[in-house]
Amino acid sequence: MQKIVIEGGVPLHGEVQISGAKNAVLPILCATLLADGPVEIGNVPHLHDVVTTAKLLGELGAGITIDEGTIEFDGRRRKGSGIVVDPRSVRSHIAPYELVKTMRASILVLGPLLAKYGAAEVSLPGGCAIGSRPVDLHIKAMQALGAEVTVEHGFIKASAARLRGAVVRFDVVSVGATENALMAASLAAGTTVIENAALEPEIVDLADCLIALGADIEGAGTSQIVIRGVERLRGGTHSVLPDRIETGTFLVAAAMTGGRITTLKSRPDTLHAVLELLQETGAVIETQDDRITLDMRGRRPRAVSFSTAPHPAFPTDMQAQFMAMNCIADGVGTIAETIFENRFMHVQELQRLGADIHIDGHTATVHGIAQLSGAPVMATDLRASASLVLAGLVAEGETIIDRIYHLDRGYENIEEKLSGLGARIRRVSA
Ligand code: UD1
Repeated sequence: MQKIVIEGGVPLHGEVQISGAKNAVLPILCATLLADGPVEIGNVPHLHDVVTTAKLLGELGAGITIDEGTIEFDGRRRKGSGIVVDPRSVRSHIAPYELVKTMRASILVLGPLLAKYGAAEVSLPGGCAIGSRPVDLHIKAMQALGAEVTVEHGFIKASAARLRGAVVRFDVVSVGATENALMAASLAAGTTVIENAALEPEIVDLADCLIALGADIEGAGTSQIVIRGVERLRGGTHSVLPDRIETGTFLVAAAMTGGRITTLKSRPDTLHAVLELLQETGAVIETQDDRITLDMRGRRPRAVSFSTAPHPAFPTDMQAQFMAMNCIADGVGTIAETIFENRFMHVQELQRLGADIHIDGHTATVHGIAQLSGAPVMATDLRASASLVLAGLVAEGETIIDRIYHLDRGYENIEEKLSGLGARIRRVSA
């Protein structure tokens, strides 16, 4: 079992290159199932969840080629790793429990399999243990498009000779259910209108990929998306957008340590709420094209209060990192988590480092203290792990983080990237 060991106390300085977005590449990989030819995806991050999705597509019969070198996009050779998925050999429509249980995003094969092959059997998902995460909205969307759906023996079983365009209205904003509806509707007969759609940049990236394959989609990034179904989607290419959560995590690391860093290959326009809150902590932020520079000028951050909410408001995937910052900030910060229940599992571990946090229902109150003290801690979910790394960067002495496989699901080479910024961090095999 691998662990991460951090010796805190070094202000971060330098430049860090941001990887492709986990939450964009996973639906895009699933969308390749809709195509009639090979789909080449660029700017693919090296993440455990990407490997799991590639395995799942392979299990369904798709051909997978991983290119670690340069890859051609828009007629130009670019650096970065790519994956080519050839869906023409897909023979199965069953997503088995063994793979789905490790990654909730596997539910995203439901819409593509159903739309392309007329049938899908997808195990009920597992993934991060951050509260009950139902799949009812995914199922309702498929039913609205004309599918027969049952849930038996732990599997969602869906079938339809051909999906029919319809109005799909969500009562709760869901990123995954919007993506499943978008993918399925692309090959449905007639026009689909998704109402109360999620607005996340990853939805826009998925739509851009589908459009590159021949889909007819308007309004992605707004609450109403109109999809005119087409007979077929062709093969093509797409480059994944930069990861806004990874970007935000590095910026918080710089702010906590009093440092100055620049993120490269990032997308400042996808991070408004995060950048605003960082400015409230006292950080000086400048953006230019694909770069964000944060300068804390050696100061201690001021505590901030915020609520999580769907995009463009403050993302739940940055909640744990900002909580880590509040732990060492000047003042008291209140954090309300409105998206997921039980997404405060990092609190107990942060308390082991000396943090002063009180939970009352969905709200956490953090009294900033001058110094955390390093200790052995355990990662519980993906973003919780990130918050422990951040806390370790400022804690006095050594912090040892166990169960870092959670971290590897969503952060590419985090210890290498942080070492590049001066952090004393290493991975050890225990
Ligand atoms: C995606 C992101 C995850 C992020 C989350 C919210 C991916 C791979 N993961 O997860 O990192 O934290 O968005 O920004 O993109 N819900 C239902 N029924 C459903 C589906 C969802 O009630 O069928 C509820 C959930 O319990 C939650 C809320 O809707 O309370 C939002 O969840 P959703 O947007 O669907 O999250 P994911 O797509 O799973």
